[in-house]
Amino acid sequence: MYRSQKLALRYLIAAVTLFGVMIVFGLLASLYYLYPSMLFNVFDFNMAKTMHIDTLVIWLLMGLIGAIYWYLPKELEHEVEGIALAEWMFWIFCAAVAVVALVFIFVQYGSSTEFSLWFINQGRKYVEAPRWAAIGIVAVMLVFSYNVIATCVKSKHRMTGVLWVLCLDLIPLVGVYLDAFPADTNLSTDLYWWWWLVHMWVESTWEVLIGCVMAWVLMDVMGTSRRIVEAWLYVEVMLVLGAGILGLGHHYFWIGTPDYWLSIGGFFSALEPLPLLGMVVHAIYDAGMHRLKTANKPAYYWITTEAFLNFIGAGVWGFMMTLPQINMFSHGTQWTASHGHFAFYGAYVCGIIAVLYVAKQKASGTEYLGGNRWKWGYGLLNLGMVGMVMGLLLAGMAQAFYGRAAGGSTLMAYTIASENPWFTSGIYARAGFGFIFAAGYVMLVIDLLAAPRRVPAMRAQPEPA
Ligand code: HEM
Ligand code: HEM
Ligand SMILES: [Fe+2]
Repeated sequence: MYRSQKLALRYLIAAVTLFGVMIVFGLLASLYYLYPSMLFNVFDFNMAKTMHIDTLVIWLLMGLIGAIYWYLPKELEHEVEGIALAEWMFWIFCAAVAVVALVFIFVQYGSSTEFSLWFINQGRKYVEAPRWAAIGIVAVMLVFSYNVIATCVKSKHRMTGVLWVLCLDLIPLVGVYLDAFPADTNLSTDLYWWWWLVHMWVESTWEVLIGCVMAWVLMDVMGTSRRIVEAWLYVEVMLVLGAGILGLGHHYFWIGTPDYWLSIGGFFSALEPLPLLGMVVHAIYDAGMHRLKTANKPAYYWITTEAFLNFIGAGVWGFMMTLPQINMFSHGTQWTASHGHFAFYGAYVCGIIAVLYVAKQKASGTEYLGGNRWKWGYGLLNLGMVGMVMGLLLAGMAQAFYGRAAGGSTLMAYTIASENPWFTSGIYARAGFGFIFAAGYVMLVIDLLAAPRRVPAMRAQPEPA
């Protein structure tokens, strides 16, 4: 194993650990809806939610970085350049995350001074981490970019198509993160730039990264030919960027930006499902070509699920409310939260779990990874997520119909909608299915840690469909 792959294992372990922390705070956040005075003035909903969504962003980032440190040396048959520096950065990254988490839990927030911005909380959703930590993340990403680019430049191998896409994507990936810093006192302009970061990360630059990871995993677990995955990757990336960049406009409908954003945002974001549909067709095509033959069943199932749920969670659930005529009613309801959960899960969580199984197979030195235990994690996580998403959709539709459309968007209508039985049952369902999701996480971790099942010699061959 390359040193870079050992570093990848560390990143993946850190990612799975933070995934667990994220779930704990997600469950906690869901319970405030049922017991509103819970932990009042000790640890309020807003901090539980901050912990939930900030750990989300960090663990997915660590998972993506881990996946790339895993595949990069394999792709170039060469150790990663500057690996010692990368190993240092990993520990600095972990220490910074731990310090920020402790500050969020015990200090929570400060007065509106520069000191708070630098050391406590920047108060910008998803990237609340104080400035010093945000600078740390920039440093980690710069070292990571240096590792990738220098390894490609020094390698005697020809650059592959996947690597070209990856290297070019690093520029906007780091570039838009610089948006985590400004503290504009005008809410409209602050949100205007903040969306560049949030939207461009998850709907452009990260989609490109996961496209590269998907290409590698498909070649790895199904033996798909490079020519095919690269051709698909180019088409997907072109469509992602073509629709995703101006698709940004779907966040500009109601924040005080000019009216033309209604048409631009509505039109381009409506095209965003296309590349995601392309990924589904791609996965089905590959599976058909290879008659479902694979030596790593869990990774194969998770990467195929990634293609489908990326399309459904991001593409279909996003499309539902991306036209301004509908968004006017659905904006900022639990409908949005339903899409947020489904999209992040489908687009990134499933893909990273596939990489975990690829790494497990190599680390445990087994030819064939199958058995039945992994199915528990797979089944419970998917059931929990789909249940949560459906509960939230129900709750969000009740808010949109009764609070917004019928009730006229007043505060009273909002309060009445919050007592609507469709809303409350959806919120109970979210918490209940959240526990099922958490059980799925426990099964996933148990399966990843357990030694692979001994497979009888005659079954050690890839199974036919
Ligand atoms: C046990 C499982 C989980 C539970 C119980 C849970 C619960 C919650 C709750 C209560 C919120 C706050 C919603 C609000 O502001 O009203 C939230 C927000 C969020 N969660 Fe989760 N969550 C879970 C798992 C996940 C997973 C696996 C992901 C990502 C894959 C995720 C991504 C998010 C995102 C993106 C938000 C912000 C959504 C928004 O404000 O529109 N959560 N979650
Ligand atoms: C991987 C891809 C995606 C992810 C991870 C994702 C995630 C999210 C999250 C977390 C939010 C809530 C943001 C907040 O207010 O805190 C959101 C909002 C939104 N997303 Fe996505 N999304 C993705 C793709 C898409 C696509 C493809 C579309 C359209 C076709 C879309 C349409 C929207 C719209 C319209 C909103 C604003 C909702 C509102 O008005 O409250 N998203 N997305
Ligand atoms: Fe967006």
